[in-house]
Amino acid sequence: MAATLLALLVLQAVSLASAFPGGAPASSCVDMTPRHAGVQPQPDPAPYHILTSSPTFQTGQNVTVVIAGAEYRALLLEARAGTKSAAVGSWSLPPADTKLLQCSGNPYGAITHAGTSIKDGSTTYTWTPPSDTNTVYFIATVAQQRNVFWLNIKSDTLTRGERHPTQDLSVPNKST
Ligand SMILES: *[C@@H]1O[C@H](CO)[C@@H](O)[C@H](O)[C@H]1NC(C)=O
Repeated sequence: MAATLLALLVLQAVSLASAFPGGAPASSCVDMTPRHAGVQPQPDPAPYHILTSSPTFQTGQNVTVVIAGAEYRALLLEARAGTKSAAVGSWSLPPADTKLLQCSGNPYGAITHAGTSIKDGSTTYTWTPPSDTNTVYFIATVAQQRNVFWLNIKSDTLTRGERHPTQDLSVPNKST
């Protein structure tokens, strides 16, 4: 009896970890869909929101991003511009149990999980904007477990907040 239970638990743990044990593969950069045969995404709305440290971005200034809501174990997170599917900007300092993934030829183009330990709204992702786009949004696939995931979770759109040289000159001690 105990042995059966133990075997069941082990089996469950193995199947969870096999979702994408080492993170999403580069082949899922564009559609961001896990390749579990026959497993459908959960219906909207997802129990997650992508929140950003600012509604605007500036070249050379990092944006921090969190996935707020329920706890999760696996993710694929990218920034995109306009209607294109290319991953823009650069992720850095991946938090515990996550890693960078090359997408669209960009080695820092996405963040994915490195293992399936719990992540939550305190797990913070750091992103540096590109210089050649004026709006971006963040998009994620988030999984609670192997068969339970949501696609197409999007942040609000961030716009470039330009700093005008004349403004800087007229307010020389402006902080931030
Ligand atoms: C942004 O993040 C990068 C990589 O972690 C770091 O080297 C850089 O100093 C950060 N920039 C700012 C303005 O905090």
